[in-house]
Amino acid sequence: MNITFAKIAVPAQGVVVLPVTEGNKLGGEGKKLDKRTRGTISAAMKAAEFSGKRDKTLSIFVPAGTKLARIVLVGLGAAKTFDTNAAERAGAALYDVLSKDTTVTVVFDADGLTDAPKLAAHLAAGARLKSYRFAKYRTKEDKDAKPKLKSLAIQCDNFAGAKKHHADLTALVDGVFITRDLVTEPANIIYPESFVARARDLTKDGVKVEALGEAAMKKLGMGALLGVGQGSERESQLLVLRWDGAKNKSAPPLAIVGKGVCFDTGGISLKPPGGMWDMKWDMGGAGVVVGLMRALARRKAPVNVVGLCGLVENMPDGRAQRPGDVVTSMSGQTIEVLNTDAEGRLVLADVLTYAQQRFKPKAIVDLATLTGAIIAALSDHYAGIFSNNDDLSNQLTAAGQAVGERLWRLPMGDEYDRDIKSPIADMKNIGGGKAGSITAAQFLQRFIDKDMPWAHLDIAGVVWNEKGTPLAPGGSTGYGVRLLNRFIADNYEA
Ligand code: BES
Ligand code: MN
Ligand code: ZN
Repeated sequence: MNITFAKIAVPAQGVVVLPVTEGNKLGGEGKKLDKRTRGTISAAMKAAEFSGKRDKTLSIFVPAGTKLARIVLVGLGAAKTFDTNAAERAGAALYDVLSKDTTVTVVFDADGLTDAPKLAAHLAAGARLKSYRFAKYRTKEDKDAKPKLKSLAIQCDNFAGAKKHHADLTALVDGVFITRDLVTEPANIIYPESFVARARDLTKDGVKVEALGEAAMKKLGMGALLGVGQGSERESQLLVLRWDGAKNKSAPPLAIVGKGVCFDTGGISLKPPGGMWDMKWDMGGAGVVVGLMRALARRKAPVNVVGLCGLVENMPDGRAQRPGDVVTSMSGQTIEVLNTDAEGRLVLADVLTYAQQRFKPKAIVDLATLTGAIIAALSDHYAGIFSNNDDLSNQLTAAGQAVGERLWRLPMGDEYDRDIKSPIADMKNIGGGKAGSITAAQFLQRFIDKDMPWAHLDIAGVVWNEKGTPLAPGGSTGYGVRLLNRFIADNYEA
């Protein structure tokens, strides 16, 4: 889909989209249409009780005599609540209505909006986010089912401003798309080494890409991560992505860590077969790291960020680790692995240690599809956030709210930490069964240095959404890329 920006001039043909704010009959753009068409629009709005409510659309077939194919009204909701996220949702709703048309012009001049160029850019980005498809493995497809939208032209005053703003959003959506691709790919295609190979493409964006294999990780003492991968034919990898965009390239970076379990069978603590296929997206956190780094690099964000992905495959095998095994992590702490299916925390433990030792980051944020318990607690409406730092937690929560990727903070504390005491090692990798998301977070915190601002995002409920979300068709959502991009833009860019 080609997206362009131009000045307002109602086209003579094709589909015309008119955004309408709630309560307003029609914006300034309506005045540019002929009287008869305007009459048709008013009558149709009345008949359909279309009042410009958020996410509502109304298709109108225009009277004979004009060459326009259709006019589509899209509701923006109240002008004062129409922010960038609402604009993206409106663009996405519009895409759903228009994907079977080829040429669409949006005349974006709705009444009462401030900063229309910025909103127009977000509307276009929303349409593109919703247009994502993953069809590479389909050899037969119904022609009518395929989207046809080729050209989306956005008209607005100061279209040059809109275009400029949209360039950054293009970088961001590019990031979301690579995340969605990585997450959607099956585990026979994306495994630790092939994940790294895909990520190497970011070199073209200016990202420094490095990978450590098992020998290098063994030298570093990463017994926790390596234990998880030891039952797999695939070699485990630690992927390091660096974007040094700040003026001072050697200033301490922000570190983003992702769980990259490319397939989670549970290991010897094998999962039941129903739904096991979902565990191809157990690398969702790592997928977000790659998408975020692409977005930051493509928009040349003035910030230093290092992204780290612990990439493993959790398989049952003659060489796999057993329930009860004790492993020694890079931090020196020992872990009794009572359940080989609680593997994400083992992987993250060593990556968190490595991130802090090597990069001395300003702060560290990890993302992981860590627990089923977070889905029981929050469903797919919020991801869970756990943190040792109120400012960091508040900044992340605010960013999530702003982009529509919401976070809900859960408590941490010694009373939960006690639950992972082991009789023979420094800790065990599961708690007693209650508050499973919190005990998982307590486990991670044991690998965070004192005074290091840290937040853990449990994204198990939001990485994949079968039905789709406002900005994503069904499948992988890319949740987290827009959130972290916003968090960084608002708090770390000079
Ligand atoms: N990857 C899973 C968590 C998960 C479950 C993600 C469902 C997405 C959907 C994780 O590795 C896991 O298996 N966690 C266990 C932990 C338990 C053994 C303490 C869980 O949540 O059941
Ligand atoms: Mn597991
Ligand atoms: Zn897992």
